[in-house]
Amino acid sequence: MLQFEEETKSSGSGVESSKYTPQDLLITNEKERTKNHDGDSSDPKSERVRLEDKRIINGKADVNQLVPFKYKWAWDKYLSGCANHWMPQEINMSRDVELWKNPKGLTDDERLIVKRNLGFFSTADSLAANNIVLGTYRHITAPECRQYLLRQGFEEAIHTHAYQYIVESLGLDESEIFNAYKEVGSIREKDEFLIPFIETLTDPAFKTGTHENDQKLLKSLIVFACIMEGLFFYVGFVQILALGRQNKMTGAAEQYQYILRDESMHCNFGIDLINQLKLENPSLWTKDLKKEVTSLIKQGVELEYRYAEDTMPRGVLGLNAPMFKEYLRYVANRRCQQIGIEQIYEGASNPFPWMSEMMDLKKEKNFFETRVTEYQTGGALNWE
Ligand SMILES: [Fe+2]
Ligand SMILES: [Fe+2]
Repeated sequence: MLQFEEETKSSGSGVESSKYTPQDLLITNEKERTKNHDGDSSDPKSERVRLEDKRIINGKADVNQLVPFKYKWAWDKYLSGCANHWMPQEINMSRDVELWKNPKGLTDDERLIVKRNLGFFSTADSLAANNIVLGTYRHITAPECRQYLLRQGFEEAIHTHAYQYIVESLGLDESEIFNAYKEVGSIREKDEFLIPFIETLTDPAFKTGTHENDQKLLKSLIVFACIMEGLFFYVGFVQILALGRQNKMTGAAEQYQYILRDESMHCNFGIDLINQLKLENPSLWTKDLKKEVTSLIKQGVELEYRYAEDTMPRGVLGLNAPMFKEYLRYVANRRCQQIGIEQIYEGASNPFPWMSEMMDLKKEKNFFETRVTEYQTGGALNWE
């Protein structure tokens, strides 16, 4: 069995610098290798990765070496993500199509919910993918976390695929849905709130290694995990899953259920990453930053609530906008608690306890009974 916390037996310095861009990675490693060879040791073991050199950011160990493991929680989440693999086209959409095409199948309010949802999510997952592959991944020097981020990036692509698949199945106006993030105020405002934080991480000139920039990175990670993935997705998830619970749009609801399971893992990974980063760099987690994060979470709750009001101007599906106010406050409190800041909304309770059942979906469970095939790995290889 693998010993994740075991110390390596090698000694001497590892690769010195991790301040590179992906383009100069190999060059940096070559320089460091030559330097070590010219230096005080001729023992090749002196270049081997040591656990103490592995760090979430600004690490000194070679990022190309996944092992020895230091961050077991990240590796475990990578394995769980793979075990939960699914593909959108495995889900039968024929009942949804029939319902959508039947003029009496859904009310106008229900149709608005579906369209607004797809409008927000179809581009939000692209923003999430960009944030990971063009931003976060470059700055994280723990290879176990990078491994998870690669899996997460692929899952975001699967989510974008799922929304496209729903739009195509229902015959919706693609242009209207995919442009909603520019054209619908309550969606645009959420994205406008996120974009400066995504831009911090994706700016090619941005480098960690100073107090100021490391703090910026920490703040952006918090916004991404706790507000984007951990709050902005939740009104949409509740709405579509509530439709599914009433036996409407069950194919779309099933897709959302798998997406919710993935997103809940992304959010938990992000929170573990944030907490580990804080642990390794306690000076970053200042009183002022905590205050700023609290204020950002409050803004996030307001923006998401505005989205709830916009998507359901009247009560629908036994839900109404004020229920979402309570729910968002409850979720926000949970995020505060997870990253170690004071809860903002005293006494907020969860009006949708059934959401936890949705999140705990086991692979073998098929809640809406729409999935037509189980995921299969490729056939056995034949070398002859
Ligand atoms: Fe996603
Ligand atoms: Fe995500």
